[in-house]
Amino acid sequence: MAREFTSVGVVGLGTMGAGIVEVFARNGIDVVAVEVSDAALDRGRANLTGSTDRAVARGKLAEADRDALLARVDFRVGLDALRSVDLVVEAVPERLDLKRRIFAELDRVCKPEAILATNTSSLSVTEVSVATGRPHQVVGLHFFNPAPVMKLVEVVRTVVTAAEVVADVEALCTRLGKVDVTIGDRAGFIANALLFGYLNHAVAMVESRYATREDIDAAMKLGGGLPMGPLALLDLIGLDTACEILDTMYRRGGRDRRHAPTPLVRQMVTAGLLGRKSGRGFYTYEKPGSAKVVPDESTPAQARPAAGDGARPVARVGVVGVGATAAGLDEVFTGAGYDVVRAAPGEDLAGLAEVDLVVEAVAEELGVKKELFASLDGICKPGVVFATTTSSLPVIDIAMATGRPADVVGLHFVGPASAWPLVEIVRTVRTGAEATATARAVCATLGRTAVVCGDRAGLVVDALLFPYLNDAVKMLEAGYATVDDIDHAMKLGCGYPTGPFELLDAVGLDVALASQRALYRELRDPGLAPAPLLEHLVTAGYLGLRTGRGFRDHTGR
Ligand SMILES: NC(=O)c1ccc[n+]([C@@H]2O[C@H](COP(=O)([O-])OP(=O)(O)OC[C@H]3O[C@@H](n4cnc5c(N)ncnc54)[C@H](O)[C@@H]3O)[C@@H](O)[C@H]2O)c1
Repeated sequence: MAREFTSVGVVGLGTMGAGIVEVFARNGIDVVAVEVSDAALDRGRANLTGSTDRAVARGKLAEADRDALLARVDFRVGLDALRSVDLVVEAVPERLDLKRRIFAELDRVCKPEAILATNTSSLSVTEVSVATGRPHQVVGLHFFNPAPVMKLVEVVRTVVTAAEVVADVEALCTRLGKVDVTIGDRAGFIANALLFGYLNHAVAMVESRYATREDIDAAMKLGGGLPMGPLALLDLIGLDTACEILDTMYRRGGRDRRHAPTPLVRQMVTAGLLGRKSGRGFYTYEKPGSAKVVPDESTPAQARPAAGDGARPVARVGVVGVGATAAGLDEVFTGAGYDVVRAAPGEDLAGLAEVDLVVEAVAEELGVKKELFASLDGICKPGVVFATTTSSLPVIDIAMATGRPADVVGLHFVGPASAWPLVEIVRTVRTGAEATATARAVCATLGRTAVVCGDRAGLVVDALLFPYLNDAVKMLEAGYATVDDIDHAMKLGCGYPTGPFELLDAVGLDVALASQRALYRELRDPGLAPAPLLEHLVTAGYLGLRTGRGFRDHTGR
């Protein structure tokens, strides 16, 4: 029989703690909610009532249920109020010294049989547990943000956690309507170990002005299918918490420089730009705690390009190529009212003399593309914009094959071929403002969201997505978690529509490996080296859905 939890304590009522209180109280469990001061307690109470009031307003919670929920919560200052609870979940800031101090105090205050749990995202549960005299009764109970919404809880078992304690908290998770995965004590557990390198890389893109915050977030939502962009997500998590998590992951996770907090994160924390909770982070919010973004000095002046911004008129479009991409482009441009001229590489290109824009989708080989652009240079009229759809080759190499590199851009159509909701416009060091403006205006006419970025391997979407997938393979290879657990963690903890292994099987392991190799070649960062397991599976011909087998066997379906 699993242990009965009738009363629990939650310590720290910030971004996570208030949500955890709500989860327990919604499920009929009495909660003692503890803060460090009266002022912090008032803020914590406001966090909880704000959330439950929103649930009532949206029709997700009846008023009477809200009142019953709030009646189950006893708000207190100081840990002494936790004498009789069966379980405590600690959710104070991500600092080891603070958590160890609190656990030592909880050990003194709580009844001997009480289970002590930490909601830490990255710190060692083992190190926290040995601050008590009952390390076998200490676990990690890692909820996801927002706790009432996200289904996943990572249950972290240390080498000393008793098996029955793990079983008891697993049963509790089920009672709370959560799905748990039980794992060992490793920095970042499953989800954050895969998430934070990606988030930090997105910040580095903003810091280096590679792309704007709006463009990076739009790219990952539309091109990566994610529920939220990385910068909006960092604002939700809180930059102070994110910075502490990155720091710990860097120290505990093998000093992978991808986890060393980007200087911009630290500067923002110092400046008090913590995200939603302080009213300003990467974006500006209506007020502290609000989810509503309001315009600020970085908000683009106009959502759509307007006439007069230097865009050249485009009526006739040349599409070069014979494959599926070229056929899709033909359809998309024709559908938007452009006069399309199709041409095949190696054949007579004279028909392209009068087009205003050329988009090539020929073989993904630098020599082929350079040769094509060199001949287009001799055929096309002045003022034409040349676009390459490459996703892996440097656009500048292609541009320099022409005598007019200022007129060359990349136009990478991203997403399912039929929809292509996103276009990454690549601006090289030689691309002129008129060519970029023309590309933007054309994308607007096509009804596609365009994002502008620099000329780097993987552009925005692939550069952020493939290292995450590669990290998932490394985690599997290390024996830390299973394919199913990792897929579940990302879907239920982070709201991803597919798990990393589902995605790898769908895009093709060979495609993922080629992209990862290109990123590694360009950046020479050891953390980006392709996972050996990925290389082996590709060598073995296990390429995913296309061959019937990848990380999963699809032959029986
Ligand atoms: N923010 C997230 O998205 C997220 C997600 C999962 C887990 N976590 C983890 O949850 C924990 C809390 O993070 P957060 O983002 O909610 O932080 P937060 O800063 O929003 O809230 C921390 C709260 O702890 C309170 N506090 C500080 N010292 C205290 C003490 N001695 N006694 C009682 N309360 C005290 C603070 O007043 C504050 O309200 C961290 O370990 C973090 O890694 C955070």
